[in-house]
Amino acid sequence: MQIAAMLLAAYLLGSIPAGLWIGKLFYHTDIRESGSGNLGATNSFRVLGKKAGIAVTAIDILKGTAAVLLPLLPVFHDANIHPLTLGIAAVIGHMFPVFAKFRGGKAVATSGGVILGYSWPFFLVLIASFLIVLKLSKIVSLTSMAMGVVGLIYATVNYFVTGDLYLLIVILLLTVFIFYRHRANIGRIKAGTEPKVKWL
Ligand code: G3P
Repeated sequence: MQIAAMLLAAYLLGSIPAGLWIGKLFYHTDIRESGSGNLGATNSFRVLGKKAGIAVTAIDILKGTAAVLLPLLPVFHDANIHPLTLGIAAVIGHMFPVFAKFRGGKAVATSGGVILGYSWPFFLVLIASFLIVLKLSKIVSLTSMAMGVVGLIYATVNYFVTGDLYLLIVILLLTVFIFYRHRANIGRIKAGTEPKVKWL
């Protein structure tokens, strides 16, 4: 019962459509109708601007972190569930949010937040890699997918050092989610029509 409540809480946390709500509340704009039509952090930067973009990025990351940290709540202390399983529930919520007709984001920021809650050194490696790849490519979607690959390399090395097989399996799953959700971006990258960021 406790495990079901935790999974539901993690899913509901992930379901919070920060880009959609901030856009509607403060900018009277539905970001699903502009730019890429995605309600994630990148499209919030694109459609709403820097301030909103930063806020949406932070909230989308923290949703994943909060889900992974749920077992710290005294009410959930005795439940026997791996924090990363809660992270997966949050990312599913982010991709298929109950509060936004199940049309959600592309799993990137919330996956990052899951990793932040589980292993901050891993998160720092991803942030550093993200900035380097984005600086070189100027394409956020390509950079996001590259983070899946960086994550897999890190989790594989980590497996051989610490034996943490579950982390490797979860990263593999999150990478599959990220690539699957970027199908349209992959098409645009191939066609050379994917937008580039100008501010880097
Ligand atoms: O995190 C999503 C990003 O990788 C791509 O977003 O809006 O350019 O499709 P967008």
